[in-house]
Amino acid sequence: MSHHAYHVQAVVLGSIAGVTTLTGLALLIYRRRSRGPVFMATTVNDKLMYVFLVGAISAGLYATALGSGTFGESYNYRETVSVWFRSIWVLQPRGELMALAPLYYQLHVMIALALFAIWPFTRLVHAFSAPVAYLFRPYVVYRSRGVAARKELVGSHLQRRGR
Ligand code: HEM
Repeated sequence: MSHHAYHVQAVVLGSIAGVTTLTGLALLIYRRRSRGPVFMATTVNDKLMYVFLVGAISAGLYATALGSGTFGESYNYRETVSVWFRSIWVLQPRGELMALAPLYYQLHVMIALALFAIWPFTRLVHAFSAPVAYLFRPYVVYRSRGVAARKELVGSHLQRRGR
């Protein structure tokens, strides 16, 4: 694949995927805020996590738009950002390479690293728990709790029905 073709697909397909992800995230954040029981189960760390998650995705899209040369000169991140990232995994970090990268890549990576740091203290930790038991556990039986019980669910969507 040529450089040009790579950048075109990164910008076009990447933008579609990025905007779709942000839209989905907005819907989930709306649900988390507007449904009483869901909101009550949301910690301060979870809220902070959303800031970094949206920030990392937005900064990544911004970096691709600028770095690909869509608006001005392109930047070859494979010589700095990519080599730096690889250097961490071989335990020979080369931070000086990131110092050479444009600010928009530095910001993207800093937000991403902050996200990785708070990850275990937020509900994103579920990404590391393999739900193996899910395949073998008995079915969960759902039964209606009746109208009286439903009214107890203050702030939930059930209570708002019919308004
Ligand atoms: C330290 C870790 C990371 C590094 C080194 C990194 C590096 C990069 C680089 C070099 C690009 C440009 C790719 C291109 O233009 O072809 C990019 C794009 C992007 N990154 Fe990251 N990234 C990191 C973490 C993350 C995280 C944690 C997220 C989201 C949670 C994220 C979301 C994105 C998005 C959405 C794009 C745009 C992709 C596109 O439009 O094609 N990145 N990142």
